[in-house]
Amino acid sequence: REKIIIDADPGVDDAAAILMALASPEVDVLGLSIVAGNVPLRDTVVNACKIVGLSGRHDVPVHAGAGGPLVRDQVYGKYARIGAFDDALVKAGDIGPSDEHAVHFIARSAREAVAAGEQITICAIGPMTNIALALIQHPDVASGIRQIVSMGGAFKALGHRTPWAEFNIYADPHAAEVVYRSGVPIVTMPLDMTLQALFTAEHFEQFRAGGEVGNALFNLLSTFDRSDVGRFGRPGGPIHDATTIAWLIRPDLFTGRKAFVGVQVTGLTMGYTYADFYGKMDRLPNATVITDVDEAGFIALLIERIARYGRD
Ligand code: BDR
Ligand code: CA
Repeated sequence: REKIIIDADPGVDDAAAILMALASPEVDVLGLSIVAGNVPLRDTVVNACKIVGLSGRHDVPVHAGAGGPLVRDQVYGKYARIGAFDDALVKAGDIGPSDEHAVHFIARSAREAVAAGEQITICAIGPMTNIALALIQHPDVASGIRQIVSMGGAFKALGHRTPWAEFNIYADPHAAEVVYRSGVPIVTMPLDMTLQALFTAEHFEQFRAGGEVGNALFNLLSTFDRSDVGRFGRPGGPIHDATTIAWLIRPDLFTGRKAFVGVQVTGLTMGYTYADFYGKMDRLPNATVITDVDEAGFIALLIERIARYGRD
C-alpha cells in the first residue's frame, strides 16, 4: 500500500480527491497537510476537517500549514468569496486540526519512512508552499519522498488563471520552482489533461449512490457549479485534483512522457510551466507529464469509489 500525504487547499475538487483516496484501499493516507489556495487557510482547514469528518475516517489527521505563498502577493481561487463550506452542504464534524504544523508533519513522515526502509508519495493538489518549505527547511527529507504527484501547470496556453498559468502554480510559482528543482521525481497532471475528463450533471447525480458522503459531494459540486457550460466546448466540468489519486490507483488510465519541466516566476507569464519534450534544453527530465486520460475510465473510477461510502 502506497503511503501518501495529500497536500490540499479544499476546494470542491480537493474534496472529491480526498474522499476518493479515503475510500481506496490501494493507498494509505497518512494525513492531510493543508495550505491556503482556493480560499484562505482558516477556511481550507475547516473544509478539510469537514471532509475527513464526513468520511468517518477520524484516524486521518489534518495539519494546518502555510497561510500564504513564499514570495509573491497572495491570490485566492475563483470561489474565494464563499470561504468555508456551508454547514447545509457539509455538516461541521467533531474533527479539529492537529497541533503539528503541516511542514513538520511532511518532514516527520518522510523521515519515519526512511527509517522503515520506505518512502512516501505526496499528492499535491493546491499551491506547493508546504512542500517547498519542507524541502527547504529539511533538505534530508527529499530522500524519503518517492514522488510528488502534482495537479498543476498547463502546457498549451490553456491557463485558467491567466492566459499562461494554471492556478496552483500561479498562486505560488516560487514554491513550484523549488519542488521542480528538488530532484524528487514529479508526476505532473496539467490542465491539458484534466480538461479531457468532463463530468456532466448526470455524472454528479451518480455520486449520490455514496449515501451521506455522496450526497454531500453532489451538493458541493452542484452548488459551486464548475461546468461553465460551453467553456470547454461541450457540457461538463473537470474535477482536476482527483486525477492524482486515480493515477496512483489506475496508472493504466493515463499516458505520459518524461520531460524537463520549468516554471516562470516573474513578469506577465508568472506561473507559466514549460515542458522540454524534445530535449532542446539539454536538461535531464525531472517530471513525467501526463498528457492523456481515459475519460470514461477515470469518471467511472471516481463514481465507483464514492459509491463505496453508500455500502455500509
Ligand atoms: C486547481 O486550482 C483549484 O481551483 C483546484 O482545486 C485545482 O487544484 C485547478 O487549476
Ligand atoms: Ca486544489
